[in-house]
Parts: sequence; C-alpha cells; structure tokens
Amino acid sequence: MLMKILNKIITAVCLMAASVPVLSGKDYIVNAGSISLAVAAPEGGKLDFLYFGPSVDADGLIQLRQAGAVIGKEAYPEFGVNITSAIKALQVCHHDGNMTTDLTVDTVTESETDTYSLLRIRLKDKFYKFYVDVFYKGWKNSDVIETWTVLENREKKAVTVNRFDSGCIYLRSGDVWVSHFSGNWAAETSLTEEPLEPGILVVKNMEGARNAQHSHAEMMFSLDGKPEENHGRTIGAALCWSGNYELRVDTSGERDHVFMAGICPDASQYVIDPGKTFETPALAISYSGEGLGGVSRNFHRWARNGKIHNGWAVRDILLNSWEGVYFNVNEQGMEQMMSDIASMGGELFVMDDGWFGEKYPRNNDTSSLGDWKADPVKLPGGLKPLEDAARKYGIKFGIWVEPESTNSVSELFEEHPDWALQARNRDLVYGRGGTQLLLDLCNPEVQDYAFEVMDTLLTRYPGISYIKWDANASLLNYGSAWLPDDRQSHIYIDYHRGLEKLAKRIREAHPDVVMQACGGGGGRVNYGIMPEFDEFWVSDNTDALQRLFIQWGTSYFYPSNAMAQHVSADRNHQTGRVLPLKFRFDVAMTGRLGMEIQPMDMSDKDKQFAAKAIAQYKEIRPLVQTGNLYRLISPYDGKGVVSLSYVDDSKDNAILFAYKISHYVYQPIPRFRLAGLDPGKTYRFHELTLPDGTEPCSLEGKTVSGRILMDTGVEIPLETEYASRVFVLSEVKETL
Ligand code: GLA
Repeated sequence: MLMKILNKIITAVCLMAASVPVLSGKDYIVNAGSISLAVAAPEGGKLDFLYFGPSVDADGLIQLRQAGAVIGKEAYPEFGVNITSAIKALQVCHHDGNMTTDLTVDTVTESETDTYSLLRIRLKDKFYKFYVDVFYKGWKNSDVIETWTVLENREKKAVTVNRFDSGCIYLRSGDVWVSHFSGNWAAETSLTEEPLEPGILVVKNMEGARNAQHSHAEMMFSLDGKPEENHGRTIGAALCWSGNYELRVDTSGERDHVFMAGICPDASQYVIDPGKTFETPALAISYSGEGLGGVSRNFHRWARNGKIHNGWAVRDILLNSWEGVYFNVNEQGMEQMMSDIASMGGELFVMDDGWFGEKYPRNNDTSSLGDWKADPVKLPGGLKPLEDAARKYGIKFGIWVEPESTNSVSELFEEHPDWALQARNRDLVYGRGGTQLLLDLCNPEVQDYAFEVMDTLLTRYPGISYIKWDANASLLNYGSAWLPDDRQSHIYIDYHRGLEKLAKRIREAHPDVVMQACGGGGGRVNYGIMPEFDEFWVSDNTDALQRLFIQWGTSYFYPSNAMAQHVSADRNHQTGRVLPLKFRFDVAMTGRLGMEIQPMDMSDKDKQFAAKAIAQYKEIRPLVQTGNLYRLISPYDGKGVVSLSYVDDSKDNAILFAYKISHYVYQPIPRFRLAGLDPGKTYRFHELTLPDGTEPCSLEGKTVSGRILMDTGVEIPLETEYASRVFVLSEVKETL
C-alpha cells in the first residue's frame, strides 16, 4: 500500500517536472551554444554553483537535481565566517581591519543581446557596504561561457583586496586528468597530462610582463580518465589576462575538485577607494563531449568570433628579416629580401629589430630601445624608400617595435629615467643586453608616449600594414616612480591595465593594421591582449621538429590563423638540426605560414620548391587558417609520427598533415585514423608540396570513404628520415 502511494507521488512529481519546466525562482541557467552553466541565487542566501556541462533547460535542471547531480557549493567562495577550506576566491580587508567577508545574494539581473546572454548576481556583505557582482556571459555562437567579478567598495574608507579570482567551477571527482603547459624561452608550451591527486595543483606565473613563456593561463580537464583527442567529456578554461596568474585545483578528499583562477595575488594587494570598483579579468570556460579536440575547436571558434582581432581573416605569407640578417639591417639588404620573397610568391615583408637609433644605433641588444627613428646610416632615406620598394615588388611592408621597453643606453632613458620601472633605494636590475628596462605603463604619460610612437609610425608611413610588437623584458624592478607610496602593490596589475589600454587605443586608431604579439618568442600568448592582436609569434625556436611539439600545445586553445610559423635555415639557429626544406614547410604550413631565412643563402632549387609550396599553401590557406582542427597523432605519444588535419564545416574537404619524427629499421608506423569527416562521404587524395622530380605516393588519386578513414585508417608511406606528407582530401561528388 505504502509502495503504491509512494509510486503515485513519484509519478505525480515526475509529471509535474516534465510538463511544468519552471525553475524554482532561485535557479538560473546560462546557455552558450550547446553548453550550460547553472547557479542557485536565492535572495538573502548564498550563491551556489550547480552545474556546468552539455545544455540543459529548466526541466533538465530539475532532473539533474532529482538525480543528485548538482553541485550545490559556493560559486564564489569568500574568506568569510565559516572558513572550512583555505582555498578561497576572494579575500578582503575591510576599512576597519576586518579580514572576513560574508556575502549573500542581493539582486539578480538577466539581459540579452543578439550575441550573448548575461547573468549578473549582485552579492552584498551582510554588514559592510561591500558588493561583489558575479557575471556569467554565455556566447550564443560559441560553446564558451565567461565569468568575472566586479568588486565595489561603498564603505567609508578604502578596503584592500588580497585575493580576487575571476571565477570558480567544480568538477565531480573520479578519474579526472588535467592538461597544462610549462616551458621556457625557445621551448614554450610543453604539455603535461596528469591525474588530479589529493592536494592543491597550482599553475602560477610571476614573470610580470609576459605570461606565456614559462606556463600558460589555460588548462583542460578530462573527466573520463586519460585525455583523449576525440572522445571523452572535457572542460577547458582560459584566464583572459596578460599578467601574473594563479590557476588552482583543490583536491582535498571531498566529492568535487574545486578549480579557481585569477590574477596572481602575490605582491599585488589592491586598494579600492570608497566609491570605486575593481574588475577581474574574464575566465572563459568550455565543455565538449568530443575530447580535447572538441574543447580546442570551441575555443578556436570563440576566439575567431572576437577574442583575436579579425579572427576569421586569412593572413598574408611573409618573410621576417630576423634570422636572415639579425641586426645587420640596411636599405639594400631589406630591398633584396623584399624582392626575394615577392619572387617566391610571398605577400609581406617585415623588417625586424636593428632599424632604429640615431645617437645610439641599434647594432646589438645593448642599446636604443625607445629611440624609434630610423638609423641614418643603415637607412639614409628613412622608412620611405622601403615603403616604396614594397610597393614596387607588389607586397606589403611591416616593421618591428618594442614600445614597452628602453635601454639604459638610449636617448629616451637619458630624457626620462623615471619612466622605467625601478624599485626605490635599489640599484636597477637590467635584462636583455645588460641594459634593457621595462617602461612604467602604470603611468598614463608613458602610455601616451608609447601610443605616440606607434601612431606616428603608422600615420607618417601609411605603407606600414603590419606591426611586430615585441616584449623582451621581464618585470624585474618592482617599483613605480609614478604610483604613490601606498599604491606600489598595484604595479603588476596596473602595468597590464596600462598595456591593454594602450593596445586598445592603437587598435582603435589603426583598425586595419595587422599586429603580431611577440614576447621574446611565445611570451605573449594569452587572451588578455589577443582581442587587439591578429596573431602571435609562437616561439623563437624555429626548428621544425621542436615546433611540432610547441605548436601542438599552443593549438589546444589558439586557432591556426593566430599562430605565426616560419620556415628557417636548414641548419637551425636554435638547435643546429638539419631538416629537409619540405619538412620545414610542411610543419610551418599548419598555421600562418611565413619565412625567417636569408633567401640569398637558398639554392635556386630550394627557392623553386619554396615558390611551389607557397603557391599550394595559398590554395589550402582558407581551410588551414579557418577550418576545424582535428589533432590525430600526438608528438607526445612517442609513436614516431605526428599527424593533424583541418576539416571544413561541410565536411567536403580536409587537409591532412603527416610527419615522421623518428627513424629506424623495422619501425612500426601506425595507421593514420582520421577524425571529423563524414562517414557517408567518399574522399579523393591529392598530395601537395612534392619536390620537383618526386612522384606522389601511392595514395594519389585514391578514393576512400570517411567511415574507413576514421574507423580503420590509412597507410601513409613515410620511408625516409624526416619524411612528411600533405594531402588534400576532397569529397568525390557523384556524376551521372
Ligand atoms: C625577440 C623576438 C625575435 C626577434 C628579436 C629581435 O627575441 O622573439 O623574433 O624579433 O626579439 O631582437
């Protein structure tokens, strides 16, 4: 009898849940593409994180509650009255010295535009006039949700915030793995995959100025065990900030892992004056059921839709002068390089470091940064003849600058020694060249100076269509002559706010100029500044073999048209390795192709090959640069081969890249199993980048179904050491 009644009640509740999918009035869902995030925000109660994953509607959330599958823990945990764990997202010292905060929901606002929906939950301290607005923004056309906070001080006096994360999410524990990146100069973006173990995993960056050389502000979580490229529920997170950061995963034996990310609080206590606010940078999160690759594609789409400048644009093929001539820039040499790249089919020439300095000519890295006037000896006619020459050769012209730095040996430093960051009562510490110093971008006057430098260059020389914006200095001297004594702890943060402001101003004044973010190699790969930049320099390491690893990791979060990848000399300048020109091209061609070489040193045969490869790259460029990336065989898996592909939205066309990276007798080479194709379509193979006199491999012209290519795979002949192959796969359309 009792069972019967119970069954009736359960059925009634289920029917109600199914037919009346309304939320309780305190639950809110934010949707983005095919994912959702849900929180509970009862007025006067705590803001709780409920859910993040595949889309759910109101009914779905009710069902999740019934299944016991909601989290129900604080969505933005403050250091407060019930300190159960040391890991908190926010720690405030109120005006009277009280270190605790007790936040409850004040108001909730939902709004919507054509492109996103926005949920704002205003939290208020129970006693102090201190408010925290927690934002969740769901993009309609990408599977990415951004979360951040605005802290508002309405107390009588200043408050100090000691920790200020952007956001927090929970992951149900189980066999959860994390993928993150470490590195160094010329060895950036090295991938680590590890299971989450008890304890706190911290990825922290304190470089000060460039935050991507030693680690990345990004992580992926594989919820179903060891990460897989094309399977498994996976979450990705990227902190959109160019300065110091701290990403933490707390695994303390509880049911859920807690992930929090934000600006690193070390030496960065921030004072909020009465009536003022402090905004944290966005933490972008995504979910996919299609493994690491699915999350990567979500981030690529989101980036192209606005988080990199001109994100859907196809970029020019360029020659950059650095590894070709280093500081030995001169008019004749630059013109020769322009003529060479034009004759190989390139579209842009970039004059790198070494072109400036009057009183102190820039002949090496010990002087001249800040003196942005052409060296009268190297370039007697200034920049004008170079603009003219580029026009003559039918290509575009670009130039290198490093607007955030100076050298102690420079006219700029002589005039404005106080513009360099410097710790009080301490000797200056120098960076590159033993003289390099970072300018104080906290100071609006310095921001104006840097803006003028760039604006004058671009206005006076309208022929400059590309800027390589370099940043070769770490933040070594922690002190600002501009910030008041009691605001010195703002330097790490205000520097980057100054940088963002500067980049935005230049971008607004020169919307069409292509800008590369370079940070002494890959130091500026972050979504803090990328909205103003078109691309970044992936690494100063141009060795194609090592680049396979570096580019692999970088592609986890960044799209191919943002990744500058250059073909360099056949004895590589960083590693000394000798690789076939075809291999070097095939590796560089997976992103924004360029060259970083002295064409004068290339044989005619090599130049002919380069011209052919460039012409063929132009044909596949739209698909490579804006298509959907499927990583197939990882260089980290020790299989001796590497493979990746791009597939268009219609799944009619794909580009397949395959490389051999180790070589020995009886080497087992796996079959290459593709992904992202249409199983019902048939594809024809056509091989590209074949050196003259070489026959295409046995796959040329063959037709294979998407199903076989994905289920069973294809044998790709890779006989010789450092063999590589590039194929176009096109759907075979039935003709009668
Ligand atoms: C950095 C860049 C290089 C080059 C040099 C010039 O190292 O990453 O590509 O521009 O500076 O000094």
